[in-house]
Parts: sequence; C-alpha cells; structure tokens
Amino acid sequence: MASDVILPALLLWLMPTLVSAGLVKRQADDLEDQIPPCRTYMMDGLLYLDCSNRELKELPEELDYNAQVLLLSNNNFRTFPPQLENFSRVETLDLSRNYLNHTIPSYLQNWVHLQTLNLSNNLYDTWTTTGQKYYIKNLDLSKNKINVVDEKAFTTMPYLYFLDLSENRINDLPAGVFSEADNLDTLILSRNYFSDVPSFQSPSLRSLHMSSCQIATMNVDSLVGMGSLLAIDLSMNQLEEIPDNLASETLQELNLSYNSINMLTDNSFSSLPHLAVLDMRGNEFRDVWATSHFSSNPFLREVYVKGNRWSCEGFSVNLLLTYEFLTKEPSKIVDRESLICYSPSNVTQLSWQQAYIRTWHPVESSSPPFTTIALMVGVIIGIVVTSCVCRGLVAITRSSEPARPPPETTVLNLNGTATEPRAESVILRVPIREDLPPSYDEALLMPRLNSSFHSLPDFVDEEEPRNYRRSRSIGDLTEHRPRIADRRSLRRPVDIRITIDE
Ligand SMILES: *[C@@H]1O[C@H](CO)[C@@H](O)[C@H](O)[C@H]1NC(C)=O
Ligand SMILES: *[C@@H]1O[C@H](CO)[C@@H](O)[C@H](O)[C@H]1NC(C)=O
Ligand SMILES: *[C@@H]1O[C@H](CO)[C@@H](O)[C@H](O)[C@H]1NC(C)=O
Ligand SMILES: *[C@@H]1O[C@H](CO)[C@@H](O)[C@H](O)[C@H]1NC(C)=O
Ligand SMILES: *[C@@H]1O[C@H](CO)[C@@H](O)[C@H](O)[C@H]1NC(C)=O
Repeated sequence: MASDVILPALLLWLMPTLVSAGLVKRQADDLEDQIPPCRTYMMDGLLYLDCSNRELKELPEELDYNAQVLLLSNNNFRTFPPQLENFSRVETLDLSRNYLNHTIPSYLQNWVHLQTLNLSNNLYDTWTTTGQKYYIKNLDLSKNKINVVDEKAFTTMPYLYFLDLSENRINDLPAGVFSEADNLDTLILSRNYFSDVPSFQSPSLRSLHMSSCQIATMNVDSLVGMGSLLAIDLSMNQLEEIPDNLASETLQELNLSYNSINMLTDNSFSSLPHLAVLDMRGNEFRDVWATSHFSSNPFLREVYVKGNRWSCEGFSVNLLLTYEFLTKEPSKIVDRESLICYSPSNVTQLSWQQAYIRTWHPVESSSPPFTTIALMVGVIIGIVVTSCVCRGLVAITRSSEPARPPPETTVLNLNGTATEPRAESVILRVPIREDLPPSYDEALLMPRLNSSFHSLPDFVDEEEPRNYRRSRSIGDLTEHRPRIADRRSLRRPVDIRITIDE
C-alpha cells in the first residue's frame, strides 16, 4: 500500500532523470489504469467477460468477442456501447445499474443465443420496441421509471419466458401487450402504481406477481384472459373484498395476504375450482369463516390465516365446523395456532374449538366419533379396573378365612360333550394355587363383586346369573396372573361349575 503513495512521489522527484530513460510513459499508464481491466475466465463451460463495477463510460479495446456471459453492470453507460455489435455468442448480457434509456439496439436480433438481458436499475421511462425480433427469454426491467409500456413492446419477443417489471411506475397495461408473447410464464409487476388488477390477455402466463401495488379493486373477469394462470400474488395491496365469482379455471395459488379484506362469501371462491393454496394472512377478518365458503374447492390443501383478529362473539357453530374443516388430517391450515379468538375477552387466546366447546358444551368432546371412542375406552378401562379390584378384594377376604386342607386329587367329569351350549351344570374340582382367582361361590360372598359383574353383560348371563360362569372363567382360573396376594402359596380346592350339555 505504502508503495502506491511513495512510488509516485519518488517518480515525480526523479522525473527529469527518468524521462530520458523512457520509464515515465509506462508508469503514467499504470497510474491511469487504477481500475483493473476486464477479466476473462471460464466458468461452468461458459466464457465470461466481466467488466462490472468499473465506472466505465465506454468499453475498452481488444475484448474477447467470443464471450458468452457479458457482465457490464454498475458502470456509467448512457448508451449501449458500440463494441457490443461485435459480439455474437452472448447468452447473458448484464447491463444493470447503468444510465440507459434507449431502446435495445437492433443488432441484438442476431444474437441467437441470447437468453438473459438484464436492464434492471437503469433510466427507462417508456418501454417500446424497434420492430426487430429478439431471442430473449429472460428480461429484467426492474427498478426503472417505466410508466408507459407500448402495446407492441413484447410482440417481437416470441421466446420471452420471464419478465420482471417490478419497481417501476406502471399504472396500466394494454390488454394485448402479451398476446403474442406465447411463451411468457412468469410476470413480475410488484411495486408499481396499479390501482386495479389489469385484465390483459396471456394464454401462457402461469405466475403473476402484483405485490405492493396499491391495488384496491379487482374486476371479476380480470383473470379470464390468462388461460394458464396457476398462481397470483396480490399480497400487500389495499383490497377490501374479493369480487364474488372471481373466475379462473386454472388458478391454484391465491395470495391475498396483507390486504384489508374483512369477509368472505359463499361466492368468493366458487369460480376457482382448482384453488389449492390460499394465503389470507394479515387481513381484517373478524367473523369466523363458514365451511360453505369452500364448497367448490375440493383441492384446497394449504391455508394461511395468521394475523387476523378473529371474533368468537356469538359462538356460532362455524367455530367448530370450520376449525375441523381446516385442521382435520391432512391438515389444510399451515398456522394452526392462528385459529384463536381475539375477542370477546373471556375467550381470548382460546382456539375456536375450545371457545365453542367451553361455552356451549362443557362436557362434550370434539365430535361424535370421538365421543363414541371415548365411551368405549371408558368401558374397557372400567372392566379391567373392576376385575382387578374384585380379585384383589377376594384375595384379601380369603386371607382372613380359616385355611382349608389341600385337595388330594382332581375330579374331572366333563362327559365328553362339553363344547355344545345350553345344558346343565356339572361340578369340577380343580386344585389351584392361592394366587389364582376365587371360586364363584367365594365371589358370591362379596357384594361389590356381584353388583359389578351384573352391570357387565359380557361376563354375566342375565338370565341365569348365579348358576354358572362362562367358559372364559376357566381361562381365568388356569392362567397365571401376578396379584397382590402372590406371596402365599397355599393350595386349596376350588369348585367350578361348567356348562355342558347332554
Ligand atoms: C466490429 O466489427 C466490424 C466488422 O464487423 C468492424 O468494422 C469494427 O471495427 C469492429 N468494431 C470494434 C470496436 O472492434
Ligand atoms: C434519455 O435521456 C436523455 C436525458 O437524460 C434524453 O435527452 C433522451 O431523450 C432520453 N432518450 C429516450 C429514448 O428516452
Ligand atoms: C439483474 O441484475 C440485478 C442487479 O445487478 C440482480 O439483482 C438481478 O438478479 C439480475 N436479474 C437477473 C434476471 O439475473
Ligand atoms: C404471500 O405473499 C407474502 C408477502 O409477499 C409472502 O411472504 C408469502 O410467502 C406468500 N405466500 C405464499 C403461500 O407463498
Ligand atoms: C363469554 O362471554 C359471552 C358474552 O360476551 C358469553 O355469552 C359466554 O358464555 C362467555 N363464555 C365463557 C366461556 O365464559
């Protein structure tokens, strides 16, 4: 660094001597060229010529005219530099951040590889055409001062696919401006001065961005001329309503976030049969939506609602139905935690569902299927708990009874026909360990046991409640179950009645 300062001073001092040595000329040239010359390099198989950020008013001589990517951004060009004419293989021409305001030169029609022309951040105030046909696919005209777009401006760009006109001063577009841009796919018109959605024709357009445009009205037919439109971004505008029957046969994504919309009707989306993504964040909705607003939108799958101040006043059933419509798996709502009441104060921060349930149905759970399931689970738990408690009690009771002698043998008398139903009972003597369930007779001694089992039709036959137990009880008796009274190992006889038939 120091040499940069010292060397010129030294040279100046030595000047008289050096002149004769012929060194001055070379050194003076170096001083002039403090900005390095353009760089040429290969990247991704493309030849780059980078002359950006050099305060150039014109291009230097002797450039590599075979360059495919020509970077001239952030210079002081006021016109297209004349040497451009000698390039022909350019695929990307970046002239952003200059002072251009002239129509693109006609020789660009010979650049058959031209894909991207970047004229962002220049001084264009109108955009028009010279009549030549260009091969441009991506055109960036953002950050200019364009307020007039000629009706024919893009008719000579049949390959145009991506057009960025954001941050200009456009307040309207001629209806036919894109009618011959047959490949236009993405159009960015954000940050302009539109007051309504322009209804131009574009058979190919799929994505339209009109964020931050001060749009306050929207014609019901504004999208009809865009027969392929999939997504429209109208966020950050001043729309207060969606026109009833806003129509698009193709639209899938509707971004209306950060507007001033405060209500939907059953016709808001009724003519958008393919609606799938709906962004309604930051609007002024208070009344909770009804599911009927979406009855024509079977493909709806992604809904954003954050930043609305929902009122649960009145506690309409929509609180519950819409909540379920939006959250039922697969959940449509992306920000589920935003389905909360803002007012009235006694339910602030409660979800729509909670607010509804707490107000009107304090004991009911969310829906009939859930109620049934909960009831069944309750019954099953009841059965298990009851049977455990009963056995515990039996064991305790038995421990206070006098010990009985262990049985010698087992008398099994099943008559060989035990499997058929409805017959007389026989008595079995089965030796079992102390830790197994009590006999029926023992159980009968216990009032709680009787009343519990009577209430459970699966265990007790209502018609002959005291005569026999069903075969399931045998299983109970013969399988080992760990129980409270496990430590005792007394063997004792147990009488079992089994139903067999003759
Ligand atoms: C560009 O090419 C033309 C011939 O095609 C030639 O006359 C002209 O001098 C060239 N310009 C530059 C700046 O090299
Ligand atoms: C470009 O701007 C200059 C002044 O800045 C003006 O004289 C000229 O007419 C403009 N050209 C076009 C095509 O708008
Ligand atoms: C055009 O250039 C600007 C700034 O130089 C850049 O931000 C933008 O991404 C470029 N546009 C395209 C389409 O490459
Ligand atoms: C809608 O627009 C807002 C603001 O421009 C953006 O943040 C958001 O991501 C967009 N929503 C969707 C679903 O793309
Ligand atoms: C909340 O207040 C409203 C009246 O503003 C009343 O109708 C409702 O029952 C209250 N809800 C609860 C859960 O207390």
